[in-house]
Amino acid sequence: MATDRWTSRIGFILAAAGSAIGLGTVWRLPYVAGTEGGGAFFLIFLVLLLTVGTALLLAEFVLGRHTQEGAIRAYKHVAPKGQWQWIGILGMVAAFLLLSFYSVVGGWIIAYLVRSFGGQVTNPPDGDYTALFETITANPWEVGIAHLAFMIMTILVVQQGVRKGIEKASVYMMPALFILFAVLVVRSLTLDGAWEGVVFFLQPDLSAVTGETLLTALGQAFFSLSLGVSVMVTYSSYLGKSENLPRSAWSVVLLTILIAFMAGLVIFPGVFAFDLQPDEGPELIFTILPAVFGEMAFGSLFFTLFMILMLFATLTSAFSLVEIIVKPLIRGKEEKRVKMTWIVGLLIFAMGIPSNLSFGVLADWDVFGDIFFNQVDYLVSNILLPTGAFLISVFVSWRVRKEDLQEEMLRGSNRGIGFFNTWLFTSRYIVPIAILVVFISMI
Ligand code: PFF
Repeated sequence: MATDRWTSRIGFILAAAGSAIGLGTVWRLPYVAGTEGGGAFFLIFLVLLLTVGTALLLAEFVLGRHTQEGAIRAYKHVAPKGQWQWIGILGMVAAFLLLSFYSVVGGWIIAYLVRSFGGQVTNPPDGDYTALFETITANPWEVGIAHLAFMIMTILVVQQGVRKGIEKASVYMMPALFILFAVLVVRSLTLDGAWEGVVFFLQPDLSAVTGETLLTALGQAFFSLSLGVSVMVTYSSYLGKSENLPRSAWSVVLLTILIAFMAGLVIFPGVFAFDLQPDEGPELIFTILPAVFGEMAFGSLFFTLFMILMLFATLTSAFSLVEIIVKPLIRGKEEKRVKMTWIVGLLIFAMGIPSNLSFGVLADWDVFGDIFFNQVDYLVSNILLPTGAFLISVFVSWRVRKEDLQEEMLRGSNRGIGFFNTWLFTSRYIVPIAILVVFISMI
């Protein structure tokens, strides 16, 4: 049984949106869109978010609230005899691997933050932001310590539990993130040459779309909403029975879309205004944003603030990734939480070391044609998340009793049976088939 609870609906929504909105939206989406052709990618991503993504988010919410259990037991609760708990175990493995490289980027943010206090970031020697990124990431001590610091911050919050740790942090940081983003959008759009970036970001060129683009957009949609990992199952298990699940799901999706839009509108105008390449890869925001801020009055101050907010966006996602692993391991014994959180957190840190070194010492280590960091990202985002998403959708829509689903979904909501049936059809057929089609089109 869940022993801890969200204190309010808004607390839950902000924590869930906090899990959703993170590096995936602010850092990964822009650079993936940049390498996958811009607007067309973004459009497909939006459509997937509003259809397959929302349906799946609701499925996870329903399962978590119905069972009040985390990743493994939720599946056991519904199907005690089957082997469905492997979906939860797959989610725990995916969360472990995901956070291993995600936390590396969290470390970069900290490293930039520390340097920005000295004003070094927005004003590097020769104005070369790429060289600065390379200097930072190639130094194993600097990024290593920052990486560890990121994981320790995550641990310190998650060890306090859902209400006192995760919810409290999310409720302050998410609104602040939103406001600062709005300021940055205005700044970026008023740069000379910004328009070219807006066009690149919003004008779809569908001729650039391939099977790989679709798979990447699907993976990105799951990544952005934290789906396929049972994170949202875990979070909704702490939810009271009277909450309106459809409304909560829409709120999370719309907040994610809003931030995704704003992130694109901050970054692409900056890319074009400063003659940088949109397909630069993971370092995109670390080379573009300092340049954009460098042009502003009080740029260094704004940059520091922005990095603090990025850090919190990244942390609120990291909390959910640790929580999904810790909850099944402590099996309701909250007194074990502190110790288990440290063990899990430090193991994730250890797993992340090769990803961290991929940009420095291990840059020449070829793992099936790419650096280690990118391969772990590919494995998680394009294989484990879609597979988890497929299985969760099938499990919830076919295996949970229809009456239970209907009651759980419609309780506290003014939606009717038509809404429920549309969701059920989407979850039973459209989501699994879409995932299969995209997988097959890859081969
Ligand atoms: N949704 C997060 C982001 O977009 O940054 C990443 C993420 C968190 C993915 C938790 C999956 C997850 F379970």
